[in-house]
Amino acid sequence: MCGIVAYTGKQQAAPIMMDGLRKLEYRGYDSAGLCVQENQHLDTVRAKGKLVELDTALQIHPLKGSTGIGHTRWATHGAPSVENAHPHASMDGKFAVVHNGIIENYALIKEKLKQEGVTFQSETDTEVIAHLVAKFYQGSLAQAVADALAHLEGAFGIVVVSALEPGVLIGARRGSPLVLGIGEDEFFLASDAAAIVDHTQKVVYLNDNDMVEVNGTYRITNQARAEVRREVQNIDFRADQVAKGNFPHFMLKEIFEQPETVVNSLRGRLLPDLGTAKLQGLNLVQQELRGIERIIIVACGTSFYAGKVGEYIIEELAGIPVEVEYASEFRYRNPIIGPKTIVFAISQSGETADTLAAVREAKQKGATVLGICNVVGSTIARETDGGVYLHAGPEIGVASTKAFTSQVTVLTLIALLLGRMRHVSPEEGRRICEALRDIPSQIGEILKQNDAIRIIAEEYKNNRNFLYLGRGYNYPVALEGALKLKEISYLHAEGYPAAEMKHGPIALIDADMPTVVICPTDDLFDKMLSNMQEVKARGGRILAVTDADDGRLAGLANHIIRIPKTCHKLSPLLTVVPLQLLAYHIAVLRGCDVDTPRNLAKSVTVE
Ligand code: M6R
Repeated sequence: MCGIVAYTGKQQAAPIMMDGLRKLEYRGYDSAGLCVQENQHLDTVRAKGKLVELDTALQIHPLKGSTGIGHTRWATHGAPSVENAHPHASMDGKFAVVHNGIIENYALIKEKLKQEGVTFQSETDTEVIAHLVAKFYQGSLAQAVADALAHLEGAFGIVVVSALEPGVLIGARRGSPLVLGIGEDEFFLASDAAAIVDHTQKVVYLNDNDMVEVNGTYRITNQARAEVRREVQNIDFRADQVAKGNFPHFMLKEIFEQPETVVNSLRGRLLPDLGTAKLQGLNLVQQELRGIERIIIVACGTSFYAGKVGEYIIEELAGIPVEVEYASEFRYRNPIIGPKTIVFAISQSGETADTLAAVREAKQKGATVLGICNVVGSTIARETDGGVYLHAGPEIGVASTKAFTSQVTVLTLIALLLGRMRHVSPEEGRRICEALRDIPSQIGEILKQNDAIRIIAEEYKNNRNFLYLGRGYNYPVALEGALKLKEISYLHAEGYPAAEMKHGPIALIDADMPTVVICPTDDLFDKMLSNMQEVKARGGRILAVTDADDGRLAGLANHIIRIPKTCHKLSPLLTVVPLQLLAYHIAVLRGCDVDTPRNLAKSVTVE
């Protein structure tokens, strides 16, 4: 949730860290700070609010030095304030730490440290780490951090710096990501490779319980503090992919990237002649895939809704029962996992705490767990038994857009593969391959309506409540459309299966509560028309997203957004796009901060 950047080398650390924090601001944006080491002294500047406030503070109090740690915060313990902003220091000011995650036993440690005479400056859980390191320091920062780690429970990624050891950074992780960047005579530590991609492509993704000591070179140890070797990898995206380019917001840029990102998710994975898919990451378990009798999908938020689309398509094509469960629920009940059950974990970031915990629980119960992740080298990608990357490139906008369409694309490929291993004919497989290949250009057609959708958004921007209705494959799209609107515009929106409306939500319908109806021409189209009649009869306004050229719609809907025709199974890949644009324009028209909406963070690494 928070973002960490640290630097040691020959350049000034502060500008490099600020540049990295700007790339990570989407991870947390309620306060930020830097601490730089120079002449056996630590100098810290912190500010409440967005990074621009820290920029201003640094103009008044510039930081000089070539080793330092930086942080952008999403509050867990303690309100957003300068005092609670990271880095946090020990009482003597000789040790400072930045931290991502939660120290679950911090209250106990704090109490004990207080009894030993330590006074605290903040309400954070993080501050105990700085005091523990100071307490254990006996001439080796690495040893002191290792001793402190032994007392910590919970999830964390940390970087520690000390006035007593010039040029030294100690990083450690348990449950929160930390990546080491290797440059020419310089090193970086960050919670996300996006923060350092401008400076180096060479990285080492630390494993859980790893600690890295950077001191002109680097040394990684595991939980037993034995030295270990970790693979040096290349970052799989370019620096320009974490820049907005000519777009006013990352969210809009990412919506417009979808024709390309869907192609990237499909690249090399379709076998049109055989009417099937090829997924390298699943090769390990091909035999097992043939024998699957049940699939469980665990995910959160948008990834959960993509999983719901996956449920429909896997059941239709492969005939395998699928259950989609919120990872946060799965992890705390006692799920029944049989020998022929496969668990898929879907996560854009690959770091979501609930999804990661669900992965671990499923593995504990002996299940084969496969990941569908976007971020290469992320924790879920590494802890699963195999899986498929989305290859959608970095998603910076807090509202997930291109990840959703790539997740649905990958789930469709999985359904096709499983279906062709069972009863789907080569002919049907070929039809699906062809339809999939058309999707990117069809998304491009929808994007051409961006201006028209902005004009429609003008009509709806002052409504406070919205209902989104869909059936079958487009019920999860209704949920996703409503989530998009509420998270970036702070308007109330509810997604419902259209037929459920009459069991309650219909009571809300009036002229002030518009209904967004997703109604492609599938078997359920006439039923959707009936639901629209019900809304209209109660004075409700209707915005329809459809591929239909049916005269009856004009008499029912106040506004219609048209999408190209595809087979009904793939319609979510198209219907979701106008809903992303609608949410985006309503939020912009309302003056909301689209890329960094209030209270949210991109990657939710706490419970
Ligand atoms: O990184 P993940 O896909 O695991 O994230 C899951 C949710 O936190 C995420 O989809 C969230 O709901 C987004 N803000 C939705 O736009």
